[in-house]
Amino acid sequence: MIHPSIGQRGSAEALIAVQTLSKVYPTVNGGYVHALDNVDIDIGEGEFVSIVGPSGCGKSTLLRIIAGLDVHDEGRLILAGRDIAGPSPDVGVVFQAANLLPWLTVRENVRLPLRVGGKKKQSGTSVDDLLAMTGLGEFGERYPYELSGGMQQRAGICRALARNPRILLMDEPFGALDALTRERMNLELQNIWQTHKKTVILITHSISEALFLGNRVIVMSARPGRIIADLKVDIPRPRSLDSIILHPEYARLSSEIRGLLNAQGEVE
Ligand SMILES: Nc1ncnc2c1ncn2[C@@H]1O[C@H](COP(=O)(O)OP(=O)(O)O)[C@@H](O)[C@H]1O
Ligand SMILES: [Mg+2]
Repeated sequence: MIHPSIGQRGSAEALIAVQTLSKVYPTVNGGYVHALDNVDIDIGEGEFVSIVGPSGCGKSTLLRIIAGLDVHDEGRLILAGRDIAGPSPDVGVVFQAANLLPWLTVRENVRLPLRVGGKKKQSGTSVDDLLAMTGLGEFGERYPYELSGGMQQRAGICRALARNPRILLMDEPFGALDALTRERMNLELQNIWQTHKKTVILITHSISEALFLGNRVIVMSARPGRIIADLKVDIPRPRSLDSIILHPEYARLSSEIRGLLNAQGEVE
């Protein structure tokens, strides 16, 4: 099933262009897993793109490939006009677990990419600004174990932003947080995106989160992951969690996405 809204491919000004991308993993018993099949996505500078899809459909694989942390088998992947050939300072990544180093303070953790990644970009926001922006201003000298899960995840986001990347890739970043903290993090992320003009790709299991944050929601099929819909979210910003649910577009898109996901069945 191909959704009629597909067809945003080939625009010259795409910051990230994923073209007919496929990925197959070999398995230990000599078989293979076809993770991604012919994926095409164009993402323009400053867009916020949410990706939803059934478990195991290749979302994390796609994100890792865009981050330069994994390699694809077929197709092309172009970032700012160049083929992706590994991790780039233009890309910050946030995973579900903050993965802070326990023996370093919060500030040292956030500064880590600047220490290991070479020269700091001039236009970068300072580490202290990042900590203040995410409500961690008072916690720079604390150690990760002294922070709540939400605060650790904020520190992880600060670390991803430390080198002032143009692109922020997020793989279910709020999946392990309680509902209220998650809502607060959604608001903070909207603010970060609006203030710092990043290009964001967010993978999420939450349709409401995808719609609240995204300009577009991309829906993937069950494995091998293909794009089955690329939906524009035409809801004005800044959005609030209370008002967005009253918007007619929200109800329409949410039921369309739910329908598409349900049609994929339960997988894995
Ligand atoms: N390194 C790997 N080696 C073998 N198979 C993998 C590897 N990484 C992921 N897979 C498989 O590829 C498929 C897609 O995985 P993933 O991208 O993590 O899906 P999602 O993030 O959508 O849940 C799954 O079946 C998974 O088991
Ligand atoms: Mg995943």
